Amino acid sequence: MEAPKQKIDRGAEFDGYADHYGAGMENPAKRLAGASPEDFLKPKIDLLAGLIDNLPESASLLDFGCGTGGFAALIQSRWPSLGVEGCDLSEGMLDEAVRRGTTLNLWKYDGRDLPFERYDLVTAVCVFHHICPSEWVVVANRIRKALKPGGRFVLIEHNPWNPVTSWVVAHTAIDANAVLLSANTARRIFREAGLRTIQVQNFLFFPPRLVWLRPVDRALGGVPLGGQYFLVAENAVRGTP
Ligand SMILES: C[S@@+](CC[C@H](N)C(=O)[O-])C[C@H]1O[C@@H](n2cnc3c(N)ncnc32)[C@H](O)[C@@H]1O
Repeated sequence: MEAPKQKIDRGAEFDGYADHYGAGMENPAKRLAGASPEDFLKPKIDLLAGLIDNLPESASLLDFGCGTGGFAALIQSRWPSLGVEGCDLSEGMLDEAVRRGTTLNLWKYDGRDLPFERYDLVTAVCVFHHICPSEWVVVANRIRKALKPGGRFVLIEHNPWNPVTSWVVAHTAIDANAVLLSANTARRIFREAGLRTIQVQNFLFFPPRLVWLRPVDRALGGVPLGGQYFLVAENAVRGTP
């Protein structure tokens, strides 16, 4: 997919989708694959469990580009002792989160620096493909600085190598300006931003509705053709080269 020529105001772009935001569920192919946006979020939460279960109970987590807060809310309800925050460029998406009754600390991101070394874990779910490619390293670097030494960044993204994903993105209104990035591109971006990729798990080989195929989905994690990928990158521990 070609990069958009004009600079797009991503906050304002999502303000326009915020009212009754449904994560692209208006696409019939997506509705066939899963019953609700939560159906697509739950497998991601299961993938996160391996990481979060090894964090201290009161660890701090930021969901970067949290939108209406659905992913952050699922994390907080499964791990209630974690300090979960979310941030987003779009005021409209955050207002919609409030309208839906969020009790989380979701704050408006001004597009500049994030709080320094505050988080053990930062997640970004389907956010980077809405960021202009020329900004990818800059944003990854801001996220790295927001991590504590040894903290982790989890990127969850659409896989451009999966034809179904590419088709759905091409036919979904909120993705009109999306530029998909492969796991290899993400690795390169993170290397440039000073983050070390330690895990790539491909998933969503099968629609979330076919929940009984989840173990097969997990077993295929090394095959780079899933609908999405889950990438874990690590910030250096101070004192290590
Ligand atoms: C497709 S939505 C995903 C929302 C949420 N992560 C989820 O999975 O439901 C993309 C979100 O990224 C936000 N976004 C786009 N560019 C951003 C940026 N540079 N910084 C922070 N948020 C951004 C948008 O405002 C939007 O809420």
